[in-house]
Amino acid sequence: MFRCYPPKGCAYVYPMSLPSTPVRGTGGVADPLVVIDHIDKHFGELHVLRDISTTVARGEVVVVIGPSGSGKSTLCRAINRLETIDSGSISIDGIRLPSEGRELAALRADVGMVFQSFNLFAHKTVLQNVTLAPMAVRKVSKKEAERRGMELLDRVGVANQAAKLPAQLSGGQQQRVAIARSLAMDPKLILLDEPTSALDPEMINEVLDVMVSLAKDGMTMIVVTHEMGFARKAADRVVFMADGRIEEQATPEEFFSNPQSPRAKDFLSKILAH
Ligand SMILES: Nc1ncnc2c1ncn2[C@@H]1O[C@H](COP(=O)(O)OP(=O)(O)OP(=O)(O)O)[C@@H](O)[C@H]1O
Ligand SMILES: [Mg+2]
Repeated sequence: MFRCYPPKGCAYVYPMSLPSTPVRGTGGVADPLVVIDHIDKHFGELHVLRDISTTVARGEVVVVIGPSGSGKSTLCRAINRLETIDSGSISIDGIRLPSEGRELAALRADVGMVFQSFNLFAHKTVLQNVTLAPMAVRKVSKKEAERRGMELLDRVGVANQAAKLPAQLSGGQQQRVAIARSLAMDPKLILLDEPTSALDPEMINEVLDVMVSLAKDGMTMIVVTHEMGFARKAADRVVFMADGRIEEQATPEEFFSNPQSPRAKDFLSKILAH
């Protein structure tokens, strides 16, 4: 079964059920940025990613949801090559992910990653957290890195915290710094793995607002989140994973109003019951 996506103009088509209708190559996407082609991953006996294929277009916002243990984080980590894969391939902007070395470092610099647990450098100031990688990896001058760093901190609403250490900031502020830090590398793609799930409720929205504004600005994003409001507001596509597979994928409107698989129906009934 196929569904049209995005709704306006129905520019391309995603198979709803994998692997029975696998996407090969770019899956018909006009401007593919990330091409995931038949990847498998085991942790010992555990088969955590099962024949995953999907293509993310440039500028597309994909929300990945699914039960705990379904492989969402592993998929994100594989895209950033923090995890190896057993078979299949992942390409970013036409370049297949190399296994190691300088090319991998270059490719990884193009992919921003924001984790649930902010992972800021504790002994560096907020501004230093944002300027370190551009200076070390992109060889940007300190002056230029600081100018751009302040611009990005301002964009996420924490410019007035620049001289502080991360521990002096709230969780929501720290996560916004983590987003600014990943933007400082001018990534082609940002992966966010449950960026709000460690936050107190009152701080969730300030982070989601930044994410929505990034999405509106055309940033390509893969976001693991159970924040359905974000998915409805900003996602072009929802990918539902269960047991290491992509069980179904559709526009947020279609997915939330008319989930197809029993797993997705069951999952939605549980999270919407909260
Ligand atoms: N480094 C590892 N070694 C062994 N098993 C692992 C490792 N990382 C993850 N797993 C297992 O792989 C499976 C998928 O884990 P993953 O973290 O990708 O799930 P998830 O969908 O992100 O779950 P959650 O919603 O709880 O974050 C789980 O069964 C997990 O226990
Ligand atoms: Mg996870």
